[in-house]
Amino acid sequence: MADFYVQRGDLATQIAEKLNPDPLFGEPSGLFLAAPRRTGKSTFLRRELVPLLQSQGKFTIYCDLWSDRDADPGALIAKALADALGELATTKEKFWDAIPFDSIGVGGVSVALRDSDAKKSGTFSDVLIEIGKRADKDVVLIIDEAQHALRSAAGTDAMFALKAARDAMNQRDGGARLSLIFTGSHRDKLSGLVIGHTQPFYGATITDFPKLGRPFAEAVVTAFNPRLAADNQLSADDVETALTLLGHQPEPLLRLVRETALSDEGSAGLSSAVRDRAVDMRAARWAQHQSDYGALTDVQRAVLRQLIEDGEKFAPFAEGTLASISKTLGRDTDTREVQRALDALREKSLVWRPSRGIYALEDQDMREWLLETQLG
Ligand SMILES: Nc1ncnc2c1ncn2[C@@H]1O[C@H](COP(=O)(O)OP(=O)(O)OP(=O)(O)O)[C@@H](O)[C@H]1O
Ligand SMILES: [Mg+2]
Repeated sequence: MADFYVQRGDLATQIAEKLNPDPLFGEPSGLFLAAPRRTGKSTFLRRELVPLLQSQGKFTIYCDLWSDRDADPGALIAKALADALGELATTKEKFWDAIPFDSIGVGGVSVALRDSDAKKSGTFSDVLIEIGKRADKDVVLIIDEAQHALRSAAGTDAMFALKAARDAMNQRDGGARLSLIFTGSHRDKLSGLVIGHTQPFYGATITDFPKLGRPFAEAVVTAFNPRLAADNQLSADDVETALTLLGHQPEPLLRLVRETALSDEGSAGLSSAVRDRAVDMRAARWAQHQSDYGALTDVQRAVLRQLIEDGEKFAPFAEGTLASISKTLGRDTDTREVQRALDALREKSLVWRPSRGIYALEDQDMREWLLETQLG
């Protein structure tokens, strides 16, 4: 079972359909898909969505902003565009000479396309229009872990440049169109791109990317059961429960099933042993949250609770927010105290701040824990 893989063709079809240019059914501002870490986003994009889009005659470009954490996100996108142009160059003679620019620039970073004395820089619009023209196809650009764009000024500029390119290509009569797909491992983090009129994709909506569920559990059962004793088989219900408890992540689930099948524990009642161990694993995770939370000051706790309750709408210094935090604390608080609490939460890696004024919870599992045990 070197490559245990569960196909998700229906999901790919569904998402590809959303790129429809029809303003009533499509998502003209771009698709924003969010799902927690290690739940299969990138695998889906590479193994399902990209091949499907290509079979539908689109030219696809994939860029993972997490592929190199030291690189500027703006430069990573520029590099992906340069590579895409390069890919087209191999099929066309003297291609480079026909391109009216020799580097791609965004927000102060620049990626060279070739050695040249003449320094003419192209914008993302120039480059994407050129790509569409050369490929003679509509272009789909997929930015994985898009929330990282907000880490740098050039990354943020790159997002604005992509929006400008999309408008330039889609608001003309002919020529290739551009569709943008952004994915992120955190809904609140991704919302940094769409919330607030100063953000590049203001007004766009973020969709939860569907998690692996019942079909995945069934595939696990189908793959494992033929190798297990006839009187000690896995049930899809138990595997599905375990998958949910493990945050819908395939890796720990498969490890757990393998280990349990090989251990004494699974020798009688493998299926329930898998489920029980998943319950224990979640309990251990939650004990960690309990201990992290227990170590916070009252203000830090109140601020964290407020952030979790408000989610993407969290506005730390708004009057209503301060009033609500004061109420939780049972005394008045002010912006300085809240700011200090947020700084401390960031230092403890519980809270993430991609850019000024935007805060998000680092670990979504903590939200579940808090909602279930503290706020319920
Ligand atoms: N459909 C699937 N069938 C089987 N295994 C899968 C499937 N999708 C993902 N996986 C496995 O789950 C793991 C995580 O997948 P992937 O890296 O795609 O997730 P991700 O959400 O992009 O993670 P990250 O947050 O690290 O970027 C990988 O080991 C991958 O092989
Ligand atoms: Mg990924």
